[in-house]
Amino acid sequence: MPTTLITGANRGIGLELARQYLAEGWRVHAACRNPDEARELKNLSGDLSVHGMDVTLQHEIDAVSDRIGGEAIDLLINNAGIADNYGTGVLEGKDDPDPANYDYDVWAEVLKVNVLGQGRVTGAFAGNVAASDRKIIAMMASGLSSIGNTWMGGRYAYRTSKAALNMMMRGIGAWLEPRGVIVVSIAPGWTKTDLGGPNAVNTVEEACEGMRAVLDKLTIADTGTYWNFDGERLPW
Ligand SMILES: NC(=O)c1ccc[n+]([C@@H]2O[C@H](COP(=O)([O-])OP(=O)(O)OC[C@H]3O[C@@H](n4cnc5c(N)ncnc54)[C@H](OP(=O)(O)O)[C@@H]3O)[C@@H](O)[C@H]2O)c1
Repeated sequence: MPTTLITGANRGIGLELARQYLAEGWRVHAACRNPDEARELKNLSGDLSVHGMDVTLQHEIDAVSDRIGGEAIDLLINNAGIADNYGTGVLEGKDDPDPANYDYDVWAEVLKVNVLGQGRVTGAFAGNVAASDRKIIAMMASGLSSIGNTWMGGRYAYRTSKAALNMMMRGIGAWLEPRGVIVVSIAPGWTKTDLGGPNAVNTVEEACEGMRAVLDKLTIADTGTYWNFDGERLPW
């Protein structure tokens, strides 16, 4: 069966992706910051390896890479992510859109996790993906990655991070195309998690089932594209 590596797999979308891929019989490398506290994840049954990995810490990424060695990874899901600490959920209208009032330490931290972290992890495991049968790298984007679809004030940290993630996906996609690796961005839709908040539309089950269906159909002709969980292509 194929193998996936999922970051931020201890809760929310990452946990549900791990659960669904394990249920399908996949081998799952589930990475999270605090494995000791990841009880729900560790209770999942199947071919599961849990790794401690903060995506901002290169030495932790390198340690996991050493442990996994040359094992093929069919699907790398760069899922770990954080949002601005204004409000509790996307589009709840709680943002202060004045950049003079923004918390720039938060902005820097969001970019560090959502963009640099995904870059670090992709750099460490691109060779494992290239050595696999399916050869897919998925960046967990957002509807808010879309510049064309988004005309509103606020949530600058999250929005700039997810738009930058799309651009990084295009660059890494071009770099890996000669090795046959498919690199895409995928958005889960507004989903009920700690990040999405209780007013979100999708359950994690729906979001993850949708994204798995999209990822399952990809071919190398799709590399460099940006998808919604429902199978629609999203505008840049
Ligand atoms: N929910 C939505 O509506 C929605 C919409 C669009 C996109 N997304 C994206 O989907 C992804 C998952 O979000 P979610 O809704 O499942 O959020 P969540 O429930 O808040 O989970 C976020 C996950 O990311 C992990 N994480 C945060 N910082 C990390 C770091 N430095 N290193 C490693 N892991 C880290 C968290 O680990 P800890 O438990 O250790 O904090 C947690 O496992 C994110 O990239 C998010 O931007 C979500």
